[in-house]
Amino acid sequence: MIKKINEIAATVKGFLPKNKNDVEVFRIKYLGKSGVLNQLFEEFKNVPVEEKKEIGRSINNLKEQLKNKISSFDFSEKKNKNTNLEDLTKKVKVNNLGSRHPLSIIEGEIVEVFSSIGFSVAEGPEIEDDWHNFSALNTPEEHPARDMQDTFFIQSDPSILLRSHTSSVQVRHMENNSPPIRILSPGRVYRNEAISSRAHCLFHQIEGLYIDKDVSFADLKKTLLFFAKKLFGENSKIRLRPSFFPFTEPSAEVDVYWGLKNENDYRITKGTGWLEILGCGMVDPNVLENCGIDSKKYTGFAFGMGIERIAMLKYKIDDIRLFFENDARFLQQFNFSL
Ligand code: PHE
Repeated sequence: MIKKINEIAATVKGFLPKNKNDVEVFRIKYLGKSGVLNQLFEEFKNVPVEEKKEIGRSINNLKEQLKNKISSFDFSEKKNKNTNLEDLTKKVKVNNLGSRHPLSIIEGEIVEVFSSIGFSVAEGPEIEDDWHNFSALNTPEEHPARDMQDTFFIQSDPSILLRSHTSSVQVRHMENNSPPIRILSPGRVYRNEAISSRAHCLFHQIEGLYIDKDVSFADLKKTLLFFAKKLFGENSKIRLRPSFFPFTEPSAEVDVYWGLKNENDYRITKGTGWLEILGCGMVDPNVLENCGIDSKKYTGFAFGMGIERIAMLKYKIDDIRLFFENDARFLQQFNFSL
C-alpha cells in the first residue's frame, strides 16, 4: 500500500493545471467524496495493526500535499486578494518618475497645433554662418537691423556665429526644397542679453514658414488666430500691430488678449490687457530670391515666437531662469504630462 501511496504522491507532484477548472477537476478526483484519498482511507481499515502507524502517516502526508498543491494553484479572485498580486488591471503607482520639461511640453503642443494644418518640423544647426542667420534674410553686413539681435560671433572667424533665431533653418529649407513649403523650426537660439527674470542668453524659439502660390496676409492672420485659440482657448482674441523685421514686409507683432482681472494682469500687460506673443509678416521677396524661389510666382508668410515666453504665460511662471536651473521642486510640478 505504501508503494501505491508513493505513486499517487508522485502524480500529484507533477500536476500542472492550465486554469481554475483543471484545479477543480483535480480536487474532486483526489479529495472528493469518492475520491482517491477517501478510497485510501477505506482501504486503511483493512491494514494490519502493526502497519497502521506508518501507512496512516503516509496517507495524512498525501492529504497535506494535496491541499498545498491545490491552494498553490488557486486561480480564484478571492485568493488573489490575499496574495501580493491584487488587481492586475489597477493603475500602477510609480514613484520618482521624472516629468517632461515645461519647454518640451509647450513645444510639443505648438507642433501639434500646426501639424494639424499640414506643417512639418525642420531642424538645423545651432552653430551657423552669417549667410543663413543674416545675409540671406535681407540683413547684409552693416545693416542696422543686425543690432536687433545681439549675436555671439566666433572671435577667430566672425562669419561663424551661434544662431540668434531659427529663421536660419527656414533659409536652409528654402534653399533645398521648392514650394509649397509648410515648416516649423523649433530649437535653441542664443543672444548676448544680460540674464534677468525676463531675458536669458539662451532660449528656445519656434518659427513657422508657409510658401505657396497666392499666400496672403489674411492667411497669416487666420492661421495665427487658429493657433491662439488652440493654445489659449476658444475665446481667445488676437490683434496685429505694425512692426519691422528685415526679412518680412509688411511685418507685425501679435498680441493675445490676456485680460485685466487682477493686479498682476495690469503689471504684465502694462495696463492694456494685451500680451505680445510673436512676430510675423509676409516673407520679403528678396529673401525668396536669395533662397532660389521665384518671388513673382510665390508668396509666403513667416512667424516666430519664444517658447519660454509662451510657457511663462501658460503656466504663470514669472522668472525665465527657472527653466534652466533644473530645480526638481520646479520640474516636478509638470509631472501631469506623463
Ligand atoms: N526671427 C524673428 C525673431 O527672432 C521672429 C520672426 C520670424 C519675425 C518670422 C517675423 C517672421 O525675432
